[in-house]
Amino acid sequence: MTVMRAAAALALAASVSLVGAADPTPCTLEHLGRYYDLRPLQSKTDYKVTSTLRDSKREFKLNVCGPVKSELWNPKVADDKVGAFFRGKDGDMSLGEPNSTFEIVDDAPTLFMLGGAACGGGKMSAAVRFECEPGAGVGSPKLAAQLPPDDDAACAFFFEWRTSAACPSNSSGGVGGLLVMFMSMYVTIPSSLPR
Ligand SMILES: *[C@@H]1O[C@H](CO)[C@@H](O)[C@H](O)[C@H]1NC(C)=O
Ligand SMILES: *[C@@H]1O[C@H](CO)[C@@H](O)[C@H](O)[C@H]1NC(C)=O
Repeated sequence: MTVMRAAAALALAASVSLVGAADPTPCTLEHLGRYYDLRPLQSKTDYKVTSTLRDSKREFKLNVCGPVKSELWNPKVADDKVGAFFRGKDGDMSLGEPNSTFEIVDDAPTLFMLGGAACGGGKMSAAVRFECEPGAGVGSPKLAAQLPPDDDAACAFFFEWRTSAACPSNSSGGVGGLLVMFMSMYVTIPSSLPR
């Protein structure tokens, strides 16, 4: 009986530390008991975004949690280091590296792609804010703002994307679920032993 309890407790401890150490699934996030999964937005073809900002005519292409799939023209960086781009005068300009890790900013999953093409003494960067809209399906990204505002000077790009994929579900269990599973083993195994 004591041995069984000790073994169960050990199994519990081992399972918890194992789960705790495991890397989260790319492109998903558990945050304050809610589970976000942007994998449905990963696409075999890039999303096209035509700027509707004043005096801007640019067309962007981007993908989610991985590199763009388009064939790039003179990109100056490795193709797999481009998560979003637009076609510049002498080559495709990377807005930033692909990223399979996103974070929650003001309640919305937000994907940062940093380290793009050289721009104004720094590098281009992009942020994509995914807004939960049930029933919107995949939806499509829009360019919300760029800074500085001029096409020729812009280095930072902010996209907004209304999509049902940004709607969280309750955590599926994870460590909590395992805990419950092992707790019930701990309770049921010893009592089912012959006395
Ligand atoms: C990827 O996203 C994480 C979380 O927002 C951020 O800390 C990291 O700098 C990003 N990496 C790149 C290459 O953009
Ligand atoms: C998540 O949990 C809350 C509170 O328990 C509940 O109201 C809500 O319906 C749940 N949502 C989903 C998607 O299961």
